Amino acid sequence: MSGDIIDGKAFAERLRQRVAEAVPQFVETEARAPGLAVVIVGEDPASHVYVRSKGKATVAAGMASFEHRLPDTTSQEELIALVEQLNLDDAVDGILVQLPLPAGIDDKAVIEAIDPAKDVDGFHVANAGRLAVGEEGLVPCTPLGCLMLLKDRLGDLSGLEAVVVGRSNIVGKPMAQLLLQQNCTVTIAHSRTRDLPGVVRRADIVVAAVGRPEMIRGDWLKPGATVIDVGINRIAGEGDRTRLVGDVDFESARQVAGGITPVPGGVGPMTIAVLLRNTLVAACARAG
Ligand code: GUN
Repeated sequence: MSGDIIDGKAFAERLRQRVAEAVPQFVETEARAPGLAVVIVGEDPASHVYVRSKGKATVAAGMASFEHRLPDTTSQEELIALVEQLNLDDAVDGILVQLPLPAGIDDKAVIEAIDPAKDVDGFHVANAGRLAVGEEGLVPCTPLGCLMLLKDRLGDLSGLEAVVVGRSNIVGKPMAQLLLQQNCTVTIAHSRTRDLPGVVRRADIVVAAVGRPEMIRGDWLKPGATVIDVGINRIAGEGDRTRLVGDVDFESARQVAGGITPVPGGVGPMTIAVLLRNTLVAACARAG
């Protein structure tokens, strides 16, 4: 038996379509398009690729894209000054500062400078706090995308055992909060967890976000489990080539799982689609 492949790419495409269909209504009532500002500092090639695709997707959805590319000599004060200017800019509904930032800039200080109402990444402590206490706020894109895939596949998640592997502020912690809100029994596992395979084997839902290539194997899984792989790891492939793999060993996991997201084509495309959704949500909230 082998599990179903969960097609995040197709789901993301439908979500992008729904956002794009809602934009003209906003434009009509507000006489402007929702706007997303993306700030990138330095020359990290992978980050530039992400930022380019975010800009293209924003424009394709009918929204305004403002890109700010700053040299890696930019100081924290200069970056925060730009964020503050974007906070005051009425054409900007969402602000995303691409991470990682160059050494010497404190990510936290920059994120805390973003107006929480424009924090489409959902990284500001105000939004993290709202998520933790169940108040409405902006929710980080990747975990929200994972939750959408899970609900689409499983419907009601109440009572299910969910194991989130990884405890980052960007994915693991908000993912656990979202699953808890859905009445899952949630475990956050991490690098110090004892008997990780044994913990993962309890799970009806596994969300892997550890950044360790192909760490979670099929023999760790409960048969029929739903596996969401957030990992994007570049490893050596044949010859000089590299290949992208997740945190889950796809081939062995697929033999045991009920459903599994592939890498690429699973969670990755959801992140940008949810970013567009969050930008529209922020724009509508600001417009009142
Ligand atoms: N770098 C990698 N993923 C992300 C993300 O979701 N948001 C930001 N701001 N930077 C990232």
